[in-house]
Amino acid sequence: MIKRWLKGRLAANERLFEHYWHVKLKLRSARKLVYHWYDISRVGRHMFWGRMQGQTPTQLQARLLFYYHKLEKGMCMPGAKRMFGAEAADHVMRLLTAWEAKGFATDDAIYRGALDSLLAYRDCLVALKLDQQGAVTQRVTRFLAAPRLPDAPDLTATTPLRLSLSDIDFARHRQSLDELYRIRRSFRDFAPRPVERTVIDEAVRIAQLSPSACNRQPCRVHLAEDPATRDRLLAYQNGNRGFGDTAPLVLMVTADMRGFFDASERNQPYVDGGLFAMSLLLGLQAQGLVSCCLNWCVAPASDKAVHRHFGLDDAEAIVMLIAVGYPKPETLVPLSHRKHVHDVVRRLETVA
Ligand SMILES: Cc1cc2nc3c(=O)[nH]c(=O)nc-3n(C[C@H](O)[C@H](O)[C@H](O)COP(=O)(O)O)c2cc1C
Repeated sequence: MIKRWLKGRLAANERLFEHYWHVKLKLRSARKLVYHWYDISRVGRHMFWGRMQGQTPTQLQARLLFYYHKLEKGMCMPGAKRMFGAEAADHVMRLLTAWEAKGFATDDAIYRGALDSLLAYRDCLVALKLDQQGAVTQRVTRFLAAPRLPDAPDLTATTPLRLSLSDIDFARHRQSLDELYRIRRSFRDFAPRPVERTVIDEAVRIAQLSPSACNRQPCRVHLAEDPATRDRLLAYQNGNRGFGDTAPLVLMVTADMRGFFDASERNQPYVDGGLFAMSLLLGLQAQGLVSCCLNWCVAPASDKAVHRHFGLDDAEAIVMLIAVGYPKPETLVPLSHRKHVHDVVRRLETVA
């Protein structure tokens, strides 16, 4: 009642109405601060790898994955091998020790993946004679030989996988969607063959079938096709070292923030962008191309610099980069163990 009366009074007086709108907009923009503070405090609360004490299995899994993936990935890099992974291996051993000391499950996929990768890494150092002084090899060998928990797995190195063209040729075998997902892997070595624009357009057409909030379709794909542009872009990204320069094409997936109405939608560019990017990867894979997502976790200064260099509108949020190319006749890819399904699925229960 009062609201309607007030609205009527305001509508009757143009100056008052303008004043009302001005105040309302100011209050709305002040409200944005609440959203920002919410983001900042959540990041502060949850995204902080501090002390090792009191770590839950999930927290230890995240750390293990972060470090042992460096070992898996290092074994799959193209070109002449140099010594790698010494620091990561030490972290993995420290984290595995913590895992075992806490008595966490030894049939856990990530725990086993870490042991598997450590063993494969040690074998790789020995086979390729990368560890000149032998100190890392010795440390890892000693660690692997130490008694494990009674029900710990037998040690066998199953990573990385060696894939041949026939393993990944989806089009030829008319495989199922399940198989398309299985053969999609992050490739970090590409054949020196250019990628045709028609193939990219087709993958983008498939990606455009992805769902997006209210079908707003905020995503765009920018192509870094020539080596100079690719290298300039990749110089701002930290995860492509050792292989980025083998990618004939790098895609930048962006989402236009102007498609979203206020801070309550602040995560939507990344949600829609992630779904779009996944479909894009599968669209590429279905046509015989391979890819590797490249994170865009950069400092604001780098983000701004890339917007400036490539004339991107400030409203385009960079979601990720994707290295794309054709596979070589044979390529090594990390096995990248997945968690058990029962660790991922949880029944919701009302607790408060
Ligand atoms: C958003 C995103 C960012 C990623 N960034 C990088 C990166 O910077 N460098 C890299 O080598 N791999 C990167 N990856 C690839 C992951 O390491 C890979 O997807 C994961 O280990 C699982 O392996 P798979 O893709 O072979 O199944 C990224 C993946 C995603 C989804």
